[in-house]
Amino acid sequence: MKFINLKLKANSYPIIFSDDYGDLLCCLKKYLNSKSVFLISDSNVSKIYLEKIINILKKEKFKTENFVFKAGEKSKNIKTLVEIYNYALKVGLDRKTVVIALGGGVVGDVAGFFASTFMRGLNFVQIPTTLLAMVDSSIGGKTGVNLETGKNIVGTFYQPKFVYINSNFLKTLEINHIKNGMGEVLKYAIAFSHKFFKELNLLPDKSIFTLSDFDNIIYKCCKFKAKIVEEDEKEKKGVRELLNLGHTFGHALETITKYKKYLHGEAVVLGILFVVKLANKIKFCDDDTKSNIEKIILNLGFNTKINLKTDAKNILSLMKKDKKSVSKTIRFVLPQKIGKAVSHIEVDDKIILEVIKDFIR
Ligand code: GLY
Repeated sequence: MKFINLKLKANSYPIIFSDDYGDLLCCLKKYLNSKSVFLISDSNVSKIYLEKIINILKKEKFKTENFVFKAGEKSKNIKTLVEIYNYALKVGLDRKTVVIALGGGVVGDVAGFFASTFMRGLNFVQIPTTLLAMVDSSIGGKTGVNLETGKNIVGTFYQPKFVYINSNFLKTLEINHIKNGMGEVLKYAIAFSHKFFKELNLLPDKSIFTLSDFDNIIYKCCKFKAKIVEEDEKEKKGVRELLNLGHTFGHALETITKYKKYLHGEAVVLGILFVVKLANKIKFCDDDTKSNIEKIILNLGFNTKINLKTDAKNILSLMKKDKKSVSKTIRFVLPQKIGKAVSHIEVDDKIILEVIKDFIR
């Protein structure tokens, strides 16, 4: 078992890396004084793992309840939350119950929001089962749901008591979900580490990654993430915002396509392509940086073309609704060179529109 301690003023917690479910039980006993557990999962993950986890818990005399919702970003909404609140009341959960998110980013965000609001807050544990959730969304306490008009617009900061990462879950993950996670992995390399970027460039073809490649990638990303969250837990200092590289444009794409066309990581990769084009256009980054980023995106097997029936102004107006915008001015995170991104950059609307038009045509 390896772990990273994420240190915060209040609510520090460990990220545990282990392929032994015994370690999960130990952590539940060590960090949480309760035998009542409420598992939240989705229709894909639950088919493979829910019963297994429930059996492990039951052997140790945990009392379990569970709620499963339809897999996919479309379920990440207030309606799903209300169903969970009602179910939780019906089965008699109380303030001592521990909420466990068993799934990917959508499950973690919804379960975390539920845990942070039901009866004014229940203890919460993240068991991420996708690459995206292991490297990013399960860590740092962002929870929330989407509105039809905007992604992640309703949410809270609410830290889990611990995160249990077992890369064996990836054995059953489909290749498009591996790619989805690689979108967020790439974000860390571009924003924080040229060395990590080079390592990603050296990886074998993505279809033959081994679990040990993943263990290494996940651990490194969690180190980046923990450091950033420790510095700027509530995204107030412009530091955590660096993790939103590619997200403003990516979120607009997800919203405009009604959360149906792109997985989050795929949209983020298109968002990264967008900001590198924008940064290059205003001479914030040089041509080599742009072409190296474009190359790695192609090498990792991402689609780099956007085929949308919408106009650039629509996308721009959605981007202005992003949480990072202030007085309708978008504040971009732009790559300056590989391994260094900068937040809070304002760009003239005319230039943004030109880059969007070029990109979507
Ligand atoms: N996924 C970005 C963040 O946690 O801040």
